[in-house]
Amino acid sequence: MVAELLSRIAAGNGHGEESAYFDGWKAYENDPFHPANNPTGVIQMGLAENQLSFDLVKEWILKNPGASICTAEGIEQFQDIAIFQDYHGLPAFRNAVASFMERVRGNKVTFDPDRIVMSGGATGAHELMAFCLANPGEAFLVPTPYYPGFDRDLRWRTGVELVPVECHSSNNFKVTRKSLEEAYNKAQEDNIIVEGVLITNPSNPLGTVLDRETLSSILAFTNEKNIHLVCDEIYGATVFGYPNFVSIAEIMLEQDHNPDLIHIVYSLSKDLGFPGFRVGIVYSYNDKVVNVARKMSSFGLVSAQTQLLIASMLSDEEFVEKFLVESSKRLETRHNLFTWGLNQVGIKCLKSNAGLFVWMNLRPLIEQDLTMEGELALWRVIINEVKINVSPGCSFHCHEPGWFRVCIANMDDETMEVALKRIRTFAAQKVAKPKSSGAAKRKCWQSNLQLRISSRRLEDLMGVSSQHGSPHSPMSPLVRAQT
Ligand SMILES: Cc1ncc(COP(=O)(O)O)c(C=O)c1O
Repeated sequence: MVAELLSRIAAGNGHGEESAYFDGWKAYENDPFHPANNPTGVIQMGLAENQLSFDLVKEWILKNPGASICTAEGIEQFQDIAIFQDYHGLPAFRNAVASFMERVRGNKVTFDPDRIVMSGGATGAHELMAFCLANPGEAFLVPTPYYPGFDRDLRWRTGVELVPVECHSSNNFKVTRKSLEEAYNKAQEDNIIVEGVLITNPSNPLGTVLDRETLSSILAFTNEKNIHLVCDEIYGATVFGYPNFVSIAEIMLEQDHNPDLIHIVYSLSKDLGFPGFRVGIVYSYNDKVVNVARKMSSFGLVSAQTQLLIASMLSDEEFVEKFLVESSKRLETRHNLFTWGLNQVGIKCLKSNAGLFVWMNLRPLIEQDLTMEGELALWRVIINEVKINVSPGCSFHCHEPGWFRVCIANMDDETMEVALKRIRTFAAQKVAKPKSSGAAKRKCWQSNLQLRISSRRLEDLMGVSSQHGSPHSPMSPLVRAQT
């Protein structure tokens, strides 16, 4: 017998790289759009990044040169920070992050800095949670559609399983008690021990917030079953309209529960737009979890230089206030402009008020049967011909074919307009020249798309907002998105 050179973890596909989600990224990497150097390249709309407010951060950095420490103004602190390695983290960092988390939740709750445990982004925080709360083979229930990275973050190195909780477009993908019970019972039938429920609020990919009733019902469910509730709240500050974001921390104030079962995952990757800094947080209400997670956090600490910079930036209340208000305004403007542009050619998105993306319904454009194969066939055309990397719903474990996540905050206004124009042209062409079907199907498509437009109007639609008076004309100070 030939001995395996690598471990099962190393040799397996636990990373999930063999998926449409990552294939789309590869297509972008092989042929990246650039307005001057490669104007026909692939536009990256598969990356949930928040790049709309970097001018504000830049301004702050220039005003506070000492915070970076590798500067003339910061040099006196350099040595102390360079040798700092305590896994509790700098007290100033934990205090500032706790206050920031409170501000993001409307100052309706308080967070104890001593419960903040560092991790390498929310990615590291989720793995930390899985290591602390479940044994290999045991599972978390996760409402669908959910962030594809969870399959890697919670499962790969821990051996923990995820059991999907089926949610449907008929009620805007709300998590119901019935769907939780069904997933729980199914896991039991399969002899899988369920250790918890993992929710994302606001949701990636839906861009919606969980309402109070839903949160209460999920908390009641986990409490009754005596299982954990892990709440990923990393999009908390991306909310740009009613209804407001309600944190599980707020629901806990109102409802009977066992606090030992509740944990929040947070990071600065989305709300501040700093995924490169790898600032992740586990905030647990369970003392034992705080204790052991802190020990485990040695594998994924936040660099002390980053801690110092973040401590300094987030304790500047004036900056934080300005940033949060302006950032959500800009996200709203971008969201409105994009969804308005899609709506003009009959493409609908799930109604949403948060996140860095929209959840776009392309069911009317699927030429084949409404199946996952049909969805993937359409996705291939979008990648290869429309040259846009959007992510198909199946990579989010969505049970209904035809939904696509489109990220809209990782590019400048001009790139977004190019992308929007491409999608609109594609949708309009599909209506004008349906490929494989006859007149009857053509008629059906047209009504599906609500596109009863003359060819004159069709031409008009190829141009974007300027001719048609868009709802907003944002003067974004964005630097041009990289490649
Ligand atoms: C819901 C969710 N959780 C976690 C992550 C990972 O975030 P981080 O960059 O902080 O590791 C992402 C990234 O897209 C996400 O969307």
